Amino acid sequence: MKSVVILISGRGSNMQAILEAGLPVAAVISNNPAAEGLMFAQTRGIPTQVIDHRTFPDRKAFDAALAKTIDTYQPDLVVLAGFMRILSEAFVDHYQGRLVNIHPSLLPAFSGLDTHTRALQEGVKIHGCTVHFVTSQLDHGPIIIQAAIPVLTDDTPATLAARVLTQEHRIYPQAVRWFLQGQLTLVENRVEIKTTSDSQEVLYSPGIEP
Ligand code: GRF
Repeated sequence: MKSVVILISGRGSNMQAILEAGLPVAAVISNNPAAEGLMFAQTRGIPTQVIDHRTFPDRKAFDAALAKTIDTYQPDLVVLAGFMRILSEAFVDHYQGRLVNIHPSLLPAFSGLDTHTRALQEGVKIHGCTVHFVTSQLDHGPIIIQAAIPVLTDDTPATLAARVLTQEHRIYPQAVRWFLQGQLTLVENRVEIKTTSDSQEVLYSPGIEP
């Protein structure tokens, strides 16, 4: 059976959404021993591993250990879900075409950190989240699915983050499901999705629903 390995660093709510969607998760790995998400995975009977980056001399050594552990599970897909480490080119190359990430903005806008604060500062009227394949350029890989929400006049970074997060939990399981069902094809730098009549759209635009 096909499976995924999920990498987390903290809360793990996207990991939780993927587990609750019934997707086949072989293991959850964290670089942070205190990641809250580890506990949830354990309560679901999912194997967990901690590979603490602070115990390695450099990024190369950490990434090599991480890849070695991931590969023991032979996953079809590696899912970054709030994994707060920049990955080396060697790591990204090793998982080319089978490494995905979720980013809390409508890429290519607002790559990097503090996306909700920056969206409010820029006065954008639409914000959202993106699931994309990972390439060595941070937050720039081919886009699989996005969800867009309106920015409200009284939004704060926290209220905006909460509404975006709700959408993250919808689109990430969808993207993983598409991948595992063989519905995603990379054509140059774009993702083509083989849709079936009952498949969902690649853009969610849920209006002002919470
Ligand atoms: C999410 O907002 C995700 O988009 C970003 O980090 C956050 C992780 O949240 N990459 P969680 O750990 O999945 O709750």
